[in-house]
Amino acid sequence: MASEKLIKAREFEEKFARFVPEDERPYFHVTGPVGWINDPNGFSVYKGEVHLFFQYHPYRVQWGPMHWGHVKTRDFIKWERLPVAMAPDEEYDRSGCYSGSAVELPDGRQLILYTGMQADYDEFGQITETQEQCVAIGDGVNYEKYEGNPVITAKDLPEGGSSHDFRDPKIWREDDGFYYCVVGNRTEDGSGAILMFKSPDALHWTYETTLERCCNELGGMWECPDFFPLSGKQVLITSPQEMMPMGLEFHAGFGTVCMIGDYNKMTHEFSRENVSAVDYGLDFYAPQTMEAPDGRRILIAWMQNWSTTTSRRQDARIMGEMTVPRELSVRNGRLIQNPVRELLAYRGHKVSYRNVMVRQEMNLAGVKGRVLDMTITIRPAGNALYHAFRFNVAKDGENVTSVRYKPDNNTVRIDRSRCGFPHDIVNIRELVIRPQDGCMKVRVILDKHSMELFFNDGEQAASTILYTRQDAQSISFEAEGDVLMDVEKYDLLF
Ligand code: FRU
Repeated sequence: MASEKLIKAREFEEKFARFVPEDERPYFHVTGPVGWINDPNGFSVYKGEVHLFFQYHPYRVQWGPMHWGHVKTRDFIKWERLPVAMAPDEEYDRSGCYSGSAVELPDGRQLILYTGMQADYDEFGQITETQEQCVAIGDGVNYEKYEGNPVITAKDLPEGGSSHDFRDPKIWREDDGFYYCVVGNRTEDGSGAILMFKSPDALHWTYETTLERCCNELGGMWECPDFFPLSGKQVLITSPQEMMPMGLEFHAGFGTVCMIGDYNKMTHEFSRENVSAVDYGLDFYAPQTMEAPDGRRILIAWMQNWSTTTSRRQDARIMGEMTVPRELSVRNGRLIQNPVRELLAYRGHKVSYRNVMVRQEMNLAGVKGRVLDMTITIRPAGNALYHAFRFNVAKDGENVTSVRYKPDNNTVRIDRSRCGFPHDIVNIRELVIRPQDGCMKVRVILDKHSMELFFNDGEQAASTILYTRQDAQSISFEAEGDVLMDVEKYDLLF
């Protein structure tokens, strides 16, 4: 039976979603019906359809007591809204239904494993959070919280594990018939670890091992872990808080880390070989993956970052959107990410150019817009290496967001400081890419308020929200030195 809190949230979104102005909603990126969203949750297949839940506070465009919003899709691009799935309506999740994941049970029901949060304040107003793992079971629309909740608590933690920072279970069923989950935890050294638990039925859990530890080397607390096989390797993804910058690989604050290595399923040992960022843009956090029915591993993330969400437009009615879902693979020890191939079906109005000589700032006929899929390939025009190449999007007389590439040190600089946002948030991000001899390829996906870049066939991705008004449509190219450029541009049509 739906609780009063859940009914209230369902009625609220039903009533107010229609007042969100057209311009605020992207065409193919998931948003909440109203209010605030953060992490993707429960990204999984249920009865042949792909379900996605998300951290959701319908009542305001700010984080608040977390509900679970819900959508589903057949092609990762067009999403159907479903009513709020869960509200914080039990003693053990009274302050929030935090992040988690979902699986289809053998009996045809869908099981959600999530973190229940209880906040208490001491006499000085200091908050203490208790975080425990809980279960809800449902039919793809309505969910009942399990009467045996919570199912994993502080007493299941290995020594030194914190019950305040113990969250975001990611569940899967292994070939041995058992369920496993990985959960983020803060350890006695103050930084994160990924714990693994095991269960015969997804209800009764025992601690299995600590898969990986931060040891204060990659940020502090590790949030939102994910752990999966990919291209013959094993991948561990987590989103660390309190990162310190490392060259241009990691920036300060809330980051994402991808560890690629090997996993021994018998001993549950993970040996990490490579570490890199998942995304190098300004707005990306808490990615979660799922295995599609055809075996592809698909990733989706919150296209925001805690550091950039404190300011918003006065009149905003929704806050937060997801990235375009990405197909993953491993190539040469690196995580490769490309937009799901289903996006190709929405391409139209092809415009293409080959061997355009770029020097001073120029436009190309037919190359403009804010909802498109465009691939730019550049190379030096002669023997001399050019100094820099830049393309600009969402541009008009006042606004511009630029992406500059310098071949001498292989850096890309994304700059949205003039994208039309009247707040001083983080606006510039730099990354090092790996092109050869001044050649570079970038696929640019635009959807009203976002720019997602995929460098060199998915070797690196960079996601950035654009706060620019929709009539800023111009795209231009410029170079210091002589650059030869190919452009293939499609509008995305819905
Ligand atoms: C990550 C996170 C999770 C938590 C959720 C709460 O963005 O902090 O660790 O479950 O958000 O909304």
